[in-house]
Amino acid sequence: MHTPTILSLVLLTLAGTSLPAALAVPHPHAAATIKCPLIFDGRIKIRTQLTDFDSSATSLFNPDNVKGSSLKWSQILKFPTDPKDLGRGSSRFDNCTHKPVEVTITDESVFKTQYGFRRAGLIFSGDTNTGSPASKGVKTLHFSVRQDGKRGLNLTHEYLNVWHETSDWSANQFNFQAGTIIGQEGSLPKNTFKIMSRENKLIWSTPIEKKEWQNFAITLDFNTNTLQVYYSKGDEPLRSVIKPVPNNNAGEGQYQIGILKKPTGTEDVVNSGYQESGIDEGQIYGGIFIEDSAGGCISL
Ligand SMILES: *[C@@H]1O[C@H](CO)[C@@H](O)[C@H](O)[C@H]1NC(C)=O
Ligand SMILES: *[C@@H]1O[C@H](CO)[C@@H](O)[C@H](O)[C@H]1NC(C)=O
Repeated sequence: MHTPTILSLVLLTLAGTSLPAALAVPHPHAAATIKCPLIFDGRIKIRTQLTDFDSSATSLFNPDNVKGSSLKWSQILKFPTDPKDLGRGSSRFDNCTHKPVEVTITDESVFKTQYGFRRAGLIFSGDTNTGSPASKGVKTLHFSVRQDGKRGLNLTHEYLNVWHETSDWSANQFNFQAGTIIGQEGSLPKNTFKIMSRENKLIWSTPIEKKEWQNFAITLDFNTNTLQVYYSKGDEPLRSVIKPVPNNNAGEGQYQIGILKKPTGTEDVVNSGYQESGIDEGQIYGGIFIEDSAGGCISL
């Protein structure tokens, strides 16, 4: 009987598909392609400088809002480089010409006189408060998130990370949140990302991953007033995690992507409450864009 040599065993192993991770040859990240018409592209080009975010001539986002007036976006944003925070580097819809961006908050992150909040939020340039193409028809907002090991969120607090706010600022059509939701402390765990309805009810949630990209897509149908969620981890294709649910998407407005940290111990979260001092927190984003999902188009 033929005894396999070491070499033939090695060849057999190589022919198989189950190479141990440590032996696997690193392969370049294969970005997913965007299939549907792009409405707003918030993917950050690799050559982008932080100061590019300070001017409407060079930023993909509004250079003036929403942030502390004493701060420039070039002081708020970071380009994360720590491989521990980035894994393979790029999120699913970022290719080798893109890079992630991190939104941070500090004690200075006070917008106007909203002393209760610490906030910094990116608004797509062109996403006008009324008449925005992203607030009609059927649109899908894509974004990926990753955690900065050195700038973790304090999940004792309630965070709004991504949302769409009505043009009269009276409501948010949806909220993508983390941490402890004020008033729902008993029913919702703090260490999850939560997609909440306009009425502040949980639609879907998933644990916050410390070491992996998490990819989200939220389809808003402004004609039929529904919301649908797609999700994946790492380089996996997105998959639908809920059927479209009824949601009141009326009222136009704007998308916002960043961090809004609510205070604790108050009924008046905008103006009062407790925020500790010395805040240094961040949320890493990649693959930000809005596509036209008319006719059911969706990039997975
Ligand atoms: C990366 O994405 C850009 C769109 O921003 C596209 O123009 C380019 O062809 C893509 N590059 C690769 C290598 O896929
Ligand atoms: C988290 O926030 C709470 C309430 O503001 C504060 O008491 C606590 O010290 C914070 N924890 C950390 C680890 O920063």
